Amino acid sequence: MDGHRFFQGIASQIEALDAYRSADLQARVHRYLDDLWVGLQAVYPQADPVAERVAQVIGQNLAQRPTDLQALDLERIHTPDWFLKPEVHGYIAYTDRFADTLQGVGAHIGYLKELGIRYLHLMPLLLPREGENDGGYAVADYRRVRPDLGSMDDLEALCTQLRREGISLCLDLVLNHVAREHPWAEAARRGDPKYRDYFYIYPDRTLPDQFERTLPEVFPDFAPGNFTWDDEVQGWVWTTFNSWQWDVNWSNPEVFLEYLDVILWLANKGIDVFRLDAIAFTWKRMGTHCQNQPEVHALTQALRAAVRIAAPAVAFKAEAIVAPEDLIAYLGTREHYGKVSELAYHNTLMVQIWSSLASRDTRLFTQALMRFPEKPASAGWTTYLRCHDDIGWAISDTDAALQGFSGAAHRRFLSDFYKGDFPGSFARGMHFQENPETGDRRTSGSAASLAGLEAALESGNPRLINLAIERILLAHAVFIGYGEGIPLIYMGDELGMLNDYDYAQEPAHQDDNRWLHRPKMDWARAERRKQEGTVEHRIFHGIKGLLQARARTHQLHATFSTKPLWQPNPHLLVLKRPHPEGTLVQVYNFSEQDQALPWETLRQEGIVQPYDHITQAPAPAYLRPFARLWLAQHQA
Ligand code: GLC
Repeated sequence: MDGHRFFQGIASQIEALDAYRSADLQARVHRYLDDLWVGLQAVYPQADPVAERVAQVIGQNLAQRPTDLQALDLERIHTPDWFLKPEVHGYIAYTDRFADTLQGVGAHIGYLKELGIRYLHLMPLLLPREGENDGGYAVADYRRVRPDLGSMDDLEALCTQLRREGISLCLDLVLNHVAREHPWAEAARRGDPKYRDYFYIYPDRTLPDQFERTLPEVFPDFAPGNFTWDDEVQGWVWTTFNSWQWDVNWSNPEVFLEYLDVILWLANKGIDVFRLDAIAFTWKRMGTHCQNQPEVHALTQALRAAVRIAAPAVAFKAEAIVAPEDLIAYLGTREHYGKVSELAYHNTLMVQIWSSLASRDTRLFTQALMRFPEKPASAGWTTYLRCHDDIGWAISDTDAALQGFSGAAHRRFLSDFYKGDFPGSFARGMHFQENPETGDRRTSGSAASLAGLEAALESGNPRLINLAIERILLAHAVFIGYGEGIPLIYMGDELGMLNDYDYAQEPAHQDDNRWLHRPKMDWARAERRKQEGTVEHRIFHGIKGLLQARARTHQLHATFSTKPLWQPNPHLLVLKRPHPEGTLVQVYNFSEQDQALPWETLRQEGIVQPYDHITQAPAPAYLRPFARLWLAQHQA
């Protein structure tokens, strides 16, 4: 693709392109056209006409980009690490569960700021299909807001309000599927051949059966199989998730152009980060499990390059809940290094925190981090303890074998433990999507209930309540202190909110127990954060203190990496953050007993007078149950 022609393609859509904007645009094209072109060519045999239309889509949207967002583009071009800074902390919530409406969210910005939040992920709020809609992940219109939450104008206003307060907004971009009621699917159902090609539709079971041989099932309980017969299209439609979520066909360049336009249109409303939902599934290949195919990364590279030209303020977050060796590709490996998503979920960290809390043993944790691939310096992980989804027990068989036990047995132990079935378990949770064929069992439950607070409160035993709170704070300290990206607090966890068993009363939710950990925000409970001695006060201020400590600890800038350290005590997790200002060594006690500080390890890292960055005081003489310390050599 000729750079000048591509530039002209964009410029022709923009009326008053003065010399400055023209030079700026040329620089962007010069920087990103190659990435775009390589990505497009890897997937589309006729890449040239596609690139021409990409230029047009970029031009049309760039022409509409509001001035304040263009200023933000400029600011972020000069601050490429804006999402890697240690003061950027995230919060995840459903709009209606947090504050009823988008305007309501605006009214609660003070609460988010009090906690130290700089990044807000509001879960699906675009118009979903009516009835069951997978918590909004079945989108019927990408350009309309769910009417009970507000309008597109409200969303735009909220973006502006958040931006003024220094908070960026992340929105889900569901790009693997649309609702059966989305206009593309409706047109396909009416028989329009153009739109039939937006989907995977097969006249009989021949190909679906061949694919099914190697395809796993995401929801074996309530949506078995990967294809759904549809009378209207007279065919089997590819539906990886629910029967009413139709997978779109990314091998069709029209689909690429549609999504690019949607992204840029929403970016012009002020969305900062797009969470690329279920991105691993977007390319299908016979004989594989149809996840993590190389084309997924080529497509993301092309999309991102186009977005960098049209709206450089925008970042991508890949939602790929896959094995570490596959996950790293979502931040870019080899030819895609640093050219795909800026952010991706660190699922392993989350699973290992829960695993070590249950076993009180950190060897598997250290082992898993030892083998975890290094990320590009320009990208970051989002680290978390809970989110709106279930926990899949992604324990690698290799890691388990290296520590001398069975991965399958440990996965079974974890699902039993977190259901509360294992003798001595402190947890209260539920099995999600038990699959008798594979033995796979995932877990639903809120962080606090899984960490023992629900059972402890019921027992009324102050010692158990105290341990549960300390356990919750330890778990938060690990992912907040991990330092390779944005830590995400899941709504309600900052107050220790428990499982919501009422979900079973709601017909649209009762079959999906992920609603167990999707409660409505309890604002009365939130008020108790102001009252010393309450559970809410301890957890809220504990987490807030960790976020404040993170913000002032330079070693936690995400361009630097985290190294696990082996040391002899199996109850301690020790992580190292090498940094020019002095190494930071984090020590976490995963047991209910006091432990000695790992002096030998600290000495080896040059720390003889350890100073704790969390409490801003010299390290204590020993580690209390669930203690967390971020230690550096004391600079007197
Ligand atoms: C993502 C979402 C999950 C949803 C699925 C299908 O994994 O996090 O909630 O069910 O995509 O859209």
